[in-house]
Amino acid sequence: MKKLKTENYKGVRDFYPRDVFFQEYIFETWKKTVESFGFEQYNASLLENSEIYKAKTSEEIINNQTYTFIDRGDREVTLRPEMTPTLARMIAAKKRELSFPLRYYSIPNCFRYERPQRGRMREFWQLNVDILNVKNDKFYDIEIIKLINQILLNFKATSSDFTIKINSRTLLNAVYKNYYEFNENEALTFQRLLDKKDKITEAEFLKEYEKITDKEYKDISDIDDKEVKKELNYINEIIDVCKSASISNIEFDQNIVRGFDYYTGVVFEVFDNDPENNRALFGGGRYSNLIDLFETVKDDVNISGIGFGIGDVPMMNFLESRNLLPEFVNSTDILLGIISDDQKVIDYADSAATELREQGKNVSINYDGKKVGDIMKTAEKNSIKSVVVIGEKECEEKKYEVKSL
Ligand code: HAM
Repeated sequence: MKKLKTENYKGVRDFYPRDVFFQEYIFETWKKTVESFGFEQYNASLLENSEIYKAKTSEEIINNQTYTFIDRGDREVTLRPEMTPTLARMIAAKKRELSFPLRYYSIPNCFRYERPQRGRMREFWQLNVDILNVKNDKFYDIEIIKLINQILLNFKATSSDFTIKINSRTLLNAVYKNYYEFNENEALTFQRLLDKKDKITEAEFLKEYEKITDKEYKDISDIDDKEVKKELNYINEIIDVCKSASISNIEFDQNIVRGFDYYTGVVFEVFDNDPENNRALFGGGRYSNLIDLFETVKDDVNISGIGFGIGDVPMMNFLESRNLLPEFVNSTDILLGIISDDQKVIDYADSAATELREQGKNVSINYDGKKVGDIMKTAEKNSIKSVVVIGEKECEEKKYEVKSL
């Protein structure tokens, strides 16, 4: 019989204990930071009815990147590529019972059929943080940016390690309408082109651009239009408040448009300043009519949200390239080695392990009758910090020593 390959499915990862340790470190730091800002954790299944992505996601994701299948009951099912539509569905489902504003976070695994590359995998975990249904958008737009900044500082990063780039869909819409004079369809085509801008050459961009419009490609700040100026002022106000709160690494960038169709207000992405890690670290923005896609929400009710997602893969690259990961520590505190096959010694060792566990220690027993040197080596190799060796002598004297390595 042909033996099986040990390779896993393309674009997913196996997590050995060391990998789990570092991933948990990231999750714990995320959790601690967002909980310190008053966010509560929610969760959901990774299976969703496909229709929730079709109305307002990104064309690229829906056409090329979803894992979709038909179940045995003829339902079209998708493995979630992102969490925002699920959150919108959950909020719409319990709209009457929930007391707004809400601060919700989750760390789901998501699935996208992408080309695996540095910073991008087909299965990844993503911190999702959202504030829903507030009266004063501006203050929360600012707070979300402060939170992003705090997350990175809590990983011991400094502001020179990353750049926050911000733009606004309201601003872009004013540009599309008043400068380009696009209709809705043209605007969407144009926006999708802008979203691709970084991934194609300038010549390719210009070729596509000229197909859509014969207007000159301008800096938004040079467009002389009242509405455009007003929206640009809003962004500049946010930037100024952030700067006065010591967030110096924030800038307006008219090329940040974001791929999802549901954004309506501010949009932002955070970039790692290490050029090796060139994919966005965080992405998010304000969305005002995703929740009212659901039947429980009346047409005249508008529940808006602002939030962001950050993946474990780019986060890990960010930390690794700056040596910001902690030292691996095994969750086992003590390796207890028995260097005898005598049942009396084994019974004594078992009672010693029980005693240590009652004191709150995690104890792993090695019954394989190895030599003291071997036990030390095993502990060291597995980053276990302490060792207990029990043989005839310890059993007779009813005494053992916890040796710290
Ligand atoms: P997104 O820009 O698609 O936004 O993803 C946000 C972040 O998730 C990215 O910046 C990256 O860190 C991570 N990410 C995305 N795709 C992958 C991948 N294939 N592998 C590893 N990491 C990845 C959203 O998903 C929005 N739903 C975020 C949001 C929440 N907007 C409002 N609330």
